[in-house]
Amino acid sequence: MSSPRVPQAAVDGQFVNRWSGRAFASDSIPQPVIDSLFEAARWAPSCFNEQPWLFVYAAAEADLARMRSLPVAKNRSWADRAPLLVLVLARTSFEKNGKPNRHAAFDAGAAWMSLALQAHAHGLMTHAMAGFDEAAAYSLCGVSPQRYTVLAMIAVGKSGDAANLPPDLAAIEHPNGRKDAGRVAVPLSGIAALLAAGGIP
Ligand SMILES: Cc1cc2nc3c(=O)[nH]c(=O)nc-3n(C[C@H](O)[C@H](O)[C@H](O)COP(=O)(O)O)c2cc1C
Repeated sequence: MSSPRVPQAAVDGQFVNRWSGRAFASDSIPQPVIDSLFEAARWAPSCFNEQPWLFVYAAAEADLARMRSLPVAKNRSWADRAPLLVLVLARTSFEKNGKPNRHAAFDAGAAWMSLALQAHAHGLMTHAMAGFDEAAAYSLCGVSPQRYTVLAMIAVGKSGDAANLPPDLAAIEHPNGRKDAGRVAVPLSGIAALLAAGGIP
């Protein structure tokens, strides 16, 4: 089978080579490496430099045991092996004036991607999850949905043995592809024709 990861323009390899595997090895991640992941996230850009993200993480066994209760069963079947689990939250309002911050998810998304690429540079896999018990996440962190939005969970660790995965997940343990570049970025002068041709959903 040919690789589904063929760039359509010149691009740094890290963007194409990072992918979300599920076959984690359980080897713990040294604290300086964990610090390095959150340091990368810390330098992400944000509206008014508000830095609305908050990463609540579990690397110690006692914390991991509590955070492992959050993912849905399908995600637990692989995320339970990851040595680092992270909840990604974003503050709902600006610290400086209390007004709603509608850009917080955008900014936290940028921070998570920085974390993911820094992890990739350390030879670690990251895998984001939407499938987890959000209500339980708020209560585990002790924050209200009025104050913070819980956006996602992330599993981080070294790549391990796909034989540990359930067969349906072992079968898809490889990088996936992307939409055609022409459906993702379009000059303003071309958007009307693309819409008329049904070229974007
Ligand atoms: C916000 C978000 C939520 C996701 N939720 C899940 C999930 O619950 N379970 C899962 O197996 N993968 C999940 N994924 C992984 C995506 O399916 C994956 O990122 C996508 O297929 C692109 O593949 P890649 O990351 O390997 O490039 C999620 C990814 C993101 C960014």
